[in-house]
Amino acid sequence: MEFAFEVEILARVKHKNLLSLRGYCAEGRERLIVYDYMPNMSLQSHLHGQHSEEYLLGWNRRMKIAIGSAEGILYLHQQATPNIIHRDIKGSNVLLDSDFQARVADFGFAKLVPDGATHVTTKVKGTLGYLAPEYAMLGKANKSCDVFSFGILLLELASGRKPIEKVSSTVKRPIYDWALPLVCEKKFSELVDPRLNGKYLEEELKRIVLVAMICAQSEPEKRPTMLDVVELLKGKSKEKISQIENSEMFRNTPNGKYNGGASMAEDISDLISAEKELKHDLEENSGR
Ligand SMILES: Nc1ncnc2c1ncn2[C@@H]1O[C@H](COP(=O)(O)OP(=O)(O)OP(=O)(O)O)[C@@H](O)[C@H]1O
Ligand SMILES: [Mg+2]
Repeated sequence: MEFAFEVEILARVKHKNLLSLRGYCAEGRERLIVYDYMPNMSLQSHLHGQHSEEYLLGWNRRMKIAIGSAEGILYLHQQATPNIIHRDIKGSNVLLDSDFQARVADFGFAKLVPDGATHVTTKVKGTLGYLAPEYAMLGKANKSCDVFSFGILLLELASGRKPIEKVSSTVKRPIYDWALPLVCEKKFSELVDPRLNGKYLEEELKRIVLVAMICAQSEPEKRPTMLDVVELLKGKSKEKISQIENSEMFRNTPNGKYNGGASMAEDISDLISAEKELKHDLEENSGR
């Protein structure tokens, strides 16, 4: 789709939790997009980057960011015309305005979903650790890929951990695999960011973590929609949360489904190289 046409569609997308596009320039080979400046930078910078040392993102703010960013993505998925799949939900693409309200950014390279289509086949774009497995392997982008990435983002927000952690020089562990045994054993307090020093609401933590886990499960058809996610995060259905907590997926003992991260490390390195190849491919094609 032509740059100017796509940008014009994106310029019409307006929501309190999306970063507004101010304008663009398409002259000769120049391509420029102007956005509102966000004084509190990104969620990534607060959790792991330059702001993480000097400033602690408190629990209420985290909760507000979780709900706000979910509402922004819900708008892209269901209210924008045509619907939009973001394809790169991650901490650095969730910006924070002066009120610490979440503004989802970078949907400029998202995929517009034609009416009636269930998915869009595309080159894989996204960031390691947030990529839904079926999308990384088959390149089929649909809304549930964003739901998966959002689940990873929620785990990151609650725990302060990175999407993939190095546990030894050869083993890397995805945040989901770290969280799963703790959720199975209902050890929610071990999942929370220790920097919060116990200052959080247990019920909300449980909500965020359980929603994160159902979003980031490997079977795309079992993931919730963003509408379900918003409602669950807002605590509209306590009954549903307890159903999730007692569901089959958390009944496997950690020694069953979870494998300690060892063989996962191999899967991950396959993914890493697949992603590298794809990035290389993309860069070659875009002439970067
Ligand atoms: N409007 C904005 N206001 C403040 N900071 C911004 C704004 N837009 C982007 N940033 C920050 O600038 C940095 C670079 O953003 P950019 O989108 O180019 O890269 P990224 O998000 O790290 O990766 P990707 O290219 O995959 O999106 C990020 O830390 C991002 O959070
Ligand atoms: Mg970005």
